[in-house]
Amino acid sequence: MVAVGGADIIATMPQTVNSQRAARTTTGSPFSFSAPSGVSVFMTQQLPGHLAGPLMATYSRLPVSFERGDGAWLWSVDGRRYLDALSGIAVCGLGHAHPGVREAICEQASQLVHVSNLYRIPAQEALGDRLCDAAGMERVFFANSGAEANEAAIKLARLRAHGRGIQRPEILVMENSFHGRTLATLTATGNRKAQAGFEPLVSGFVRVPYDDLGAVEIAAGNRTNIVAVLVEPIQGEGGVVVPSAGYLAGLRELCDRHGWLLMLDEVQAGMGRTGKLFAYQHEGIRPDVMTLAKGLGNGVPIGACLARGEAADVLGPGSHGSTFGGNPIACRAALAVLDALAADDLPAHAAAMGERIRTGLRDALADLSGVVTIRGRGLMIGIELDRPCADLVATALSAGLLINVTAQRVVRLLPPLIIDNAQAAQIVDTVAHIIRDFLCVDATDAAITPEA
Ligand SMILES: Cc1ncc(COP(=O)(O)O)c(C=O)c1O
Repeated sequence: MVAVGGADIIATMPQTVNSQRAARTTTGSPFSFSAPSGVSVFMTQQLPGHLAGPLMATYSRLPVSFERGDGAWLWSVDGRRYLDALSGIAVCGLGHAHPGVREAICEQASQLVHVSNLYRIPAQEALGDRLCDAAGMERVFFANSGAEANEAAIKLARLRAHGRGIQRPEILVMENSFHGRTLATLTATGNRKAQAGFEPLVSGFVRVPYDDLGAVEIAAGNRTNIVAVLVEPIQGEGGVVVPSAGYLAGLRELCDRHGWLLMLDEVQAGMGRTGKLFAYQHEGIRPDVMTLAKGLGNGVPIGACLARGEAADVLGPGSHGSTFGGNPIACRAALAVLDALAADDLPAHAAAMGERIRTGLRDALADLSGVVTIRGRGLMIGIELDRPCADLVATALSAGLLINVTAQRVVRLLPPLIIDNAQAAQIVDTVAHIIRDFLCVDATDAAITPEA
């Protein structure tokens, strides 16, 4: 039996070595679910806090553990079924246990799991061809994660600059952005809380507000060493922020004018999630560099940094590398993902399902002033409330739905691209219920709180 509650885990550990762990596990705040009206409550356990036995406390884990998935459904170890409206944070776009991905991984595992990049890897070359054709790019470097893909982009931009005699190149990045947790990508990330305590950060980044072309123009006037812009086409962790129409095209124009590289971080928005294979395709532009990860392997770790034109030839032998990057299993999984996205035109399906969910939520929540906006593109959806709402994640879980809250006040939905109408309707119903209850309970609390 697998224990999911912190107390259960502690009970299985020898007493002598675990007094400290036991003490830590009891420091998690008590977990009480308020049952949303009209939805069944599954969980009544205590929160184990952010602690899970020997693991470093880097994540605030919920008191549930999954053992099986099928499409948009997940089953916990205690047999409960959950609808996944998060996809492992935009990873499992094809849903869980996708047959094409499963077969590709199993077949490759039975032949060859790993071979060094000192040798040619046919699946890697095939995937490179497919991605470059789809994206209008020329070359690709394979990594293992989004952060690593962005590291490759940052190194590429710097190396290109040094080749042009710019010794202290700067990359323009955005406020409210997220690019990863390595030191360079953390520096590029526009979130002081994520950076705090990790100083000294990396030099060579200039930050401007997102969706503000004027600020980019001012930076261009003030700084002579800018060599590239690194930007998310839609900000994900920052709260599902969709920039104004014309923003990416404006950046493209500014990059062309100043000889900068336009580097798009499509780690979250790419691979069909927004209704096009790549989010930049909504604006009819093409970046010089694009990074991918998350949905590319449907759960098998893989990242990619694609480039075209002059940028495609910057990284040469010895300039960058990765032991596992472009591993045969990861590449076979990604090839299966591309097959499935094309076979079922899943980007178009994501666009239709996303529209359905946003419209449903707008109808259901129209009368609530606590709902600031319902926004997004395709199946990248944010519902911004007028107050912090992190508790909604646990409430949704108790109602059998996986969601996320980001930027403190934004309920984020990233369901698998394969969801059907009934699942979309269930997402709308449950999310509308829990938000309505949350805002109304909050309002009642406010009404009965005596004035200071
Ligand atoms: C836009 C974006 N870039 C980069 C990353 C980092 O990806 P990873 O966690 O795979 O390193 C993320 C992760 O959330 C992301 O959303």
